[in-house]
Amino acid sequence: MTSDPLLALRPWESPEVTSWGRLPMNAVDRRPGALPLDGDWRFQLLSAPDAPVGGDWGSSYVPGVWTMQGTDDLPQYTNVRMPFPDFPPGSPDANPTGVYEREVDVPTDWAGRRIVLQVGAAESVLLVHVDGKPAGLSKDSHLAAEFDLTDLVRPGERSVLRLTVVKWSDASHIEDQDQWWHGGITRSVLLYATEPLHLADVTVRARQNGELRIDCQVRDTRGALPAGWYVSGELEDRLLTQDREFDRVNIEDDRVSDFLGEARLHATVPEVRTWNAETPELYDLTVRLHHSDGTVADTSYHRVGFRDVEIVGRDLLVNGERVYIRGVNRHDFHPLTGRAVSYEDMRADLVLLKRFGFNAIRTSHYPNDPTLYDLADELGFYVVDEADIESHDHAHEIADDPRYLNAFVDRVSRMVLRDKNHPSIIIWSLGNESDYGANHDAAAGWVRRHDPTRPLQYEGAAKLDWAATDDASDIACPMYAPLEDCVAHALSGRQTKPLIQCEYSHAMGNSNGTLADHWAAIESTPGLQGGFIWEFWDHGILQRVSDGRPVGRAGAGLYDNGVAAPGHRWAYGGDFGETIHDGAFIADGVVFPDRTPKPSLYEHREIAAPVRIEAFKHEGIVLGNHQHFRGLDWLSGTWELALADGRTLTAPAALPDLRPGETAAVPLPFEVPRDGGEVWLTLRVTVAEEQPWAPAGTEVCVPQIRLRGPAERADTVVDRPVEVDGEGLLIHPLLTVAPTLSLWRAPTDNDELGGMALRWRTWGLDSLVRKVVSVREDGGRVTVVAEYAGTTGVVRHRQVLTPVEGGVRIDEEAELPAEFDDVARVGSVFETVPGLDLLDWFGQGPWESYPDRGAGAPVGHHSLPVDELFTPYLRPQESGGRHGVRRFTLSAPDATGLAVELDAPRQVSVTRHRAADLTAVTHHDELVPRAGCVVHLDAAHRGLGTASCGPDTFPEYRIAAGVHHWSWTLRVL
Ligand code: GAL
Ligand code: MG
Repeated sequence: MTSDPLLALRPWESPEVTSWGRLPMNAVDRRPGALPLDGDWRFQLLSAPDAPVGGDWGSSYVPGVWTMQGTDDLPQYTNVRMPFPDFPPGSPDANPTGVYEREVDVPTDWAGRRIVLQVGAAESVLLVHVDGKPAGLSKDSHLAAEFDLTDLVRPGERSVLRLTVVKWSDASHIEDQDQWWHGGITRSVLLYATEPLHLADVTVRARQNGELRIDCQVRDTRGALPAGWYVSGELEDRLLTQDREFDRVNIEDDRVSDFLGEARLHATVPEVRTWNAETPELYDLTVRLHHSDGTVADTSYHRVGFRDVEIVGRDLLVNGERVYIRGVNRHDFHPLTGRAVSYEDMRADLVLLKRFGFNAIRTSHYPNDPTLYDLADELGFYVVDEADIESHDHAHEIADDPRYLNAFVDRVSRMVLRDKNHPSIIIWSLGNESDYGANHDAAAGWVRRHDPTRPLQYEGAAKLDWAATDDASDIACPMYAPLEDCVAHALSGRQTKPLIQCEYSHAMGNSNGTLADHWAAIESTPGLQGGFIWEFWDHGILQRVSDGRPVGRAGAGLYDNGVAAPGHRWAYGGDFGETIHDGAFIADGVVFPDRTPKPSLYEHREIAAPVRIEAFKHEGIVLGNHQHFRGLDWLSGTWELALADGRTLTAPAALPDLRPGETAAVPLPFEVPRDGGEVWLTLRVTVAEEQPWAPAGTEVCVPQIRLRGPAERADTVVDRPVEVDGEGLLIHPLLTVAPTLSLWRAPTDNDELGGMALRWRTWGLDSLVRKVVSVREDGGRVTVVAEYAGTTGVVRHRQVLTPVEGGVRIDEEAELPAEFDDVARVGSVFETVPGLDLLDWFGQGPWESYPDRGAGAPVGHHSLPVDELFTPYLRPQESGGRHGVRRFTLSAPDATGLAVELDAPRQVSVTRHRAADLTAVTHHDELVPRAGCVVHLDAAHRGLGTASCGPDTFPEYRIAAGVHHWSWTLRVL
């Protein structure tokens, strides 16, 4: 038994206990004067919260997670499943508990002041002791906790501060988000002081019409408020004085016994510069609390954005505009520090998102560091701020469990109290994947009363009926809903609220197929307004392969361009020896663990293009401004004309002065040649004036239009035999493996989790056995018929090899039996001699692209070293494809090599890996590149879709059984 009253409460198994001694949450922001307590703390890890603290201390860095700092308690990844079997509110007896201790020298000049400790975030139960005396406890791993230490410390003296962090608790059951489990203190710790008379809260409401209202709450820790206090404000250089008609308690002498002061400041700013995500105009506001003699007792700093959010009918409006929500779900993540993220990292995340066309963030699935919202205000994002509630594994039981009622309301209300002044936050979210119950309605009721200025969403409520008007969600915010269902709902006449998917387009591995189709539907269907891609990060933790340990903070520089340095890898579920885990499902972001963009981001950037080519008409190229609030003056452009003969012509583009939604024709600065094959016009759009998120010159989008179609292709047949071996396989000096038929790709995560890969394996497509049926020579031409036998069917394949000027033309035909319906690819695969290390191609590029993910890759002449074509997905899979390739050369530095011309735009990949190589390993670092190139050219290649979690690709991107034809010419350079 313990004598410590905090431990005696056994708060880790008491959901009713959400805090003790914790100060109310508020939005007061006092910047200067705090004493930062970040850095190395004395540390020991106990086996359980009530185990005795020993004398053996190590150290741990704060903010940080101990699971990444050398303890034996390592990160563990589970999605839905709890990592322990105990039912809520229970937790396991073996319960790692971190004890953090350090000395604090309390400044002498804090005498007489109110002294407050702030712990930015600790997971999952925080107990605070000062000099052995209990100071308070708190739960909610993603919100700060403040404690009044005035009576526990003495200015001018040294105190010992102990923070005990219990990893597993009743709260873990409502923090069952799909991410790594860690333990530690993930946000900064600090101590600050105020006068006893202080601002207890400040609520700022700033509207599009310039109306500003600031409500202040004032308290005095000594009890009654002193007479004569008042507040003032300063908005930029404008002074704001207190609304006298609102005064309740501060002036009248007979009210001095009141303990809660309320005061209001009010102003109307003429010609206000409004806030929106495109032009995030902010005004500096300082709120001051004064003593009766005018001296300042307390100050709070704010940045105010004037904007309105409302739902009208089924449209979500920002400043009256139906803005598209081009969102992403973002977790707190860093490959070296787990869940502790610095200001620089948060800024880098947001800057990258801006550069790739995102304008919205859902803080999946918990409130983020306050700094993130400051950055969102400043850089311009619409934010769905989500409360820290996910009870996925035991969702139904908890949603109505009265023992958790307090926790639900506590978490939602504290988030709103903290974040309400951020213009970027346009929607509150009650949490994620926690079913729907009375506990949600209780929290929703609190929010609707406290902040009627913003809509509320909760997927778990809305999913029952997208049109319901009496639930806890003002928005229909499904996850991974089939596009046709969304469109059907919008067309049904039943729609009552905006439809904005809280999660869609699952970015696991090589994914995000059909994103452009989604956006085509969203932009053409009133009632659909966008969504949030799942998700930003691949949560791969940098791990030393030798001992399986996380590298931790020392790992800076041990990765580059999405790839871990030799001897290291990006760990995913199971890599730390966990037996309960969910594998690579944690690697499902649009960026690699080092924030290197995946190719799908270029697709997104293009889909979000602020300026687009609408048409090519006789009067010129019609351009349109697709922004909601901005002109085009911040952009500049360059025209590029790609001609089939290999030339690319460029000319500067003068962008017209267009308001949002307007279009105008601009003259084409080129003479389009009368003949000579395809002509593609691209407008390379860059930032003209430096933006807070991009220097001038940063590429923003590359809209494109085809001006002329391809010419007829003609080969001259020559009289020279084509050489084949006894198996009918082409003999060629530059090929080490002759072209054969391929129906298989290394399964993507979507292929695996969507069940396609299993089907393909069952059919034997990964191990087709080729048997030559006949080899017929006719003049120089050779016709080879072969059968490729799978386990359940046989494909008949015919190759006609015709000698043509400079090389050989290969006409192919494959007949897929009816049961091979919907295969990965139908095409040829061959391998080259080493040394052909440069790929030049005419087709879509330079980014990796696939039939259902190509919008960001314009047709043109592209060139890349072969090693740069491959995308290093964490779990190796089909990678490196280029869509719409018309022809390519693979060459050595001396310009020798081979040239391939295709009969039509085809999917091509050139990598160092066979599909079997990719399939055989589980992590990128295990791949051994081949010296030569593995070349695939496909008559048809299946789309990527998003079936690892959500809809598969559309039927038009799947491959039907039956006869497929393709033809290509192979020449020596
Ligand atoms: C959703 C969930 C996310 C994540 C995703 C799959 O259901 O809200 O947290 O698990 O699926 O990656
Ligand atoms: Mg979940």
